[in-house]
Amino acid sequence: MTGVNEIRSAFLDYFEKNDHTIVESGPLVPRNDPTLMFANAGMNQFKNVFTGLEKRDYQRAATAQKVVRAGGKHNDLDNVGYTARHHTFFEMLGNFSFGDYFKDRAIELAWNLITKEYGLPKDKLLVTVYSEDQQAFDLWKKIAGLPEDKIIKIPTSDNFWTMGDTGPCGPCSEIFFDHGEHIWGGPPGSPEEDGDRFIEIWNLVFMQYEQTADGRHDLPRPSIDTGMGIERIAAVLQGVHDNYDIDLFRALIAASENATGVEAEGAASNSHRVIADHLRSTSFLIADGVLPSNEGRGYVLRRIMRRGMRHAHLLGAREPLMWKLVPALIREMGRAYPELVRAEALITETLRLEETRFRKTLERGLGLLDSATTDLGEGGELDGETAFKLYDTYGFPLDLTQDALRARGITVDTDAFDAAMERQKAEARAAWSGSGEAAEETVWFALKDKLGATEFLGYETEKAEGVVTGLVADGAETQEISAGQSGFAILNQTPFYGESGGQVGDAGLMTASGVRVRVTDVQKKADGLFVHAVTVEEGKLTVGLALELAVDHSRRGAIRSNHSATHLVHEALREVLGTHVAQKGSLVSPERLRFDFSHPKPMSDQELAVVEGYANEIVLQNAPVETRLMAVDDAIESGAMALFGEKYGEEVRVVTMGTALHGDKAGKAYSVELCGGTHVSRTGDIGLVTLVSESAVAAGVRRIEALTGAEARAYLDEQDKRVRELAALLKVGAGDVTARVAQLVEDRRRLEKELADAKKKLAMGGGGSGEAGNAVKDVGAFKLMARVVEGINPKDLKGLADDAKAQLGSGVVVLINVADDGKAAIVTGVTKDLTDKVSAVDLVKLGSEALGGRGGGGRPDMAQAGGPEGAKADAAIAAIEAYLSGL
Ligand code: SER
Repeated sequence: MTGVNEIRSAFLDYFEKNDHTIVESGPLVPRNDPTLMFANAGMNQFKNVFTGLEKRDYQRAATAQKVVRAGGKHNDLDNVGYTARHHTFFEMLGNFSFGDYFKDRAIELAWNLITKEYGLPKDKLLVTVYSEDQQAFDLWKKIAGLPEDKIIKIPTSDNFWTMGDTGPCGPCSEIFFDHGEHIWGGPPGSPEEDGDRFIEIWNLVFMQYEQTADGRHDLPRPSIDTGMGIERIAAVLQGVHDNYDIDLFRALIAASENATGVEAEGAASNSHRVIADHLRSTSFLIADGVLPSNEGRGYVLRRIMRRGMRHAHLLGAREPLMWKLVPALIREMGRAYPELVRAEALITETLRLEETRFRKTLERGLGLLDSATTDLGEGGELDGETAFKLYDTYGFPLDLTQDALRARGITVDTDAFDAAMERQKAEARAAWSGSGEAAEETVWFALKDKLGATEFLGYETEKAEGVVTGLVADGAETQEISAGQSGFAILNQTPFYGESGGQVGDAGLMTASGVRVRVTDVQKKADGLFVHAVTVEEGKLTVGLALELAVDHSRRGAIRSNHSATHLVHEALREVLGTHVAQKGSLVSPERLRFDFSHPKPMSDQELAVVEGYANEIVLQNAPVETRLMAVDDAIESGAMALFGEKYGEEVRVVTMGTALHGDKAGKAYSVELCGGTHVSRTGDIGLVTLVSESAVAAGVRRIEALTGAEARAYLDEQDKRVRELAALLKVGAGDVTARVAQLVEDRRRLEKELADAKKKLAMGGGGSGEAGNAVKDVGAFKLMARVVEGINPKDLKGLADDAKAQLGSGVVVLINVADDGKAAIVTGVTKDLTDKVSAVDLVKLGSEALGGRGGGGRPDMAQAGGPEGAKADAAIAAIEAYLSGL
């Protein structure tokens, strides 16, 4: 039982036997504490349980926690590689009591584990206690039987543990292992304590207080937090003095030796250690969602990576190296931390990409560094301007430059470096303030300059804590926004997505005790500032306040689904219509997705059905949605779809989903797109894609709208309901509705025609031909046929008049139709032989006037008009008769 994996299992098994719940490591990016850059202790994830804010269904827990100490309050980066026990990443084994057992049981559990389970000899162990903690002193004597000279009282903060400036804290007691007289050093508290002989292996914190900004308060119940670095206990159990000699590190260093062909001896040994350590921190950080960038956590990651990469270069590696070591790491740690296995591709590609890019400037940067320091000897100082140039032009983080000069005893003028950095910022400030941005935009640039970019946590989590770093109301910065007021909030980190790439901003809630703030939208401003549009519903929002941030989960879920479906529809359109289909715009909202694309003509129903079918095939694959970080050029070269003219950073996220089933791409990745949006984890989460419309937006640009998931179901339910209602109405099965409706439409057309014919016949006196004669009389020199009809389509009147003229052979026709609303239409006709005697136009005028109208128009043989007073139809005919008889 000496390998790291066995030691970890033995620890967890032991505490499980002692009624502890084994809890998974919390993520390296803490969700519940905005003051922490990275998890720095096992107790982080339980912070709110200690303070009583949060309840769990257990009161005892044990963990193996991932810890990164680089950047933030605890930073060991500079020493890593040169000492026996510094790491940027390590594992902390810990047991916890939340108001359950306290000092006595904690001491007993610890002592039994190390002396019985791990079998360490008692005479090699000694402990420290906080000088004011006599109780702990007595307990060690009683429980462990340690002589008084092996229980050392320490009056300093070394034996009072605090997580950071605030948080749970308390006196602590540390267990030390004596590596033996052959190593120089004295016991803790002695002048030689910094030597390497006595090594702390376990820290038991008696959590009693909570440190807040306004003082120290008692915790609701005294608790226990312990922490044992697995690398140290492994060294002790494996009989080595140096953490880098334990099995885990020997395996990683062997892999590094193999890959470089350089043995771990002398200075090369430092480089191998750096690489082994940095491989662990970078891989675990990437697995927990941190990606290299130029700010915040991403920059800490980049610094660690580049520091490792310079050491690979020092070992003579001419090709990217660190990515090749990932399998070795996964062999050693993948079983205990399956997230490494899941993220293997992302880790490998991110490392390779970063190293490939950094190599482009590394050599030239080192050349500059050499020439700038040739005249410097031990104790010399590199000027800040050169260090800044290395940073700005060659991508050398400051600590990499310092590390490169360390062996020669040369330091860097960091004040001058900072001054050069400040000067560059001032220049950028001058550039934007002179750029004529609208006043409200200037506010954001100023805030960005002051606060830096917001860290976005929303790819990994929808809940996190954040601290308010800036507030804006009425276009100006402010210190507070009170209840009932609206404004904008900026936080150091946020899980809320800021609108971009067509995806709308998130909405949700921010809360603190007595404070409730609604987030209605989030926009990205000034290149990286996430601006939350907020309304304070309760309490007061102030700068410096720490808040629980919760994205509206179901809304975001619907957005994810619509965003992933947009990618599928995009690819399906290219498959069905051709590769000329290019995205022209998109909108991804919780309700629906809208996708505009280039295509010269409307899509047929058949094409739409196939597109919908293809997209749903990938949904049914339930394929994982994978996100990788790539260099833009590589991404585009690999066939990822990008938006022409869109501005991308140097590195881009590439989202891949599904396996193509048809055509040339069959068997390959289906959709591969550059995209910064949030997506479902598997395509099955989309549920269903339904296209609801296809229309034109502009010449050559079509628009598709579609629904997914619950919205798609609701839409289809509604359609289904309609069909069933119709079926009931038509008294047929749902499957026969179409045939039945087609038949009804046909019947109706036939009936309408029959009805119109019948009406015409009726209008003309009903019955067969010749009966029109009924209405014919001689008026003056003319045969006149005049009728008042009802229910005739006005546009049929002329046809009827023509028929009547044909029947008369020679004569005058007057037809007046009175519609339901009482208005009249009048048509007059004169057979050709009579048009030189009487004009249809004159007749229609007379008739129309009698109907209250204003004349009409036409030709001498046929004219028409209208009038509002249909009741006067007979008077109109009488007027015409009177006129005709006078001719
Ligand atoms: N929190 C303490 C530490 O980090 C014990 O786990 O040392």
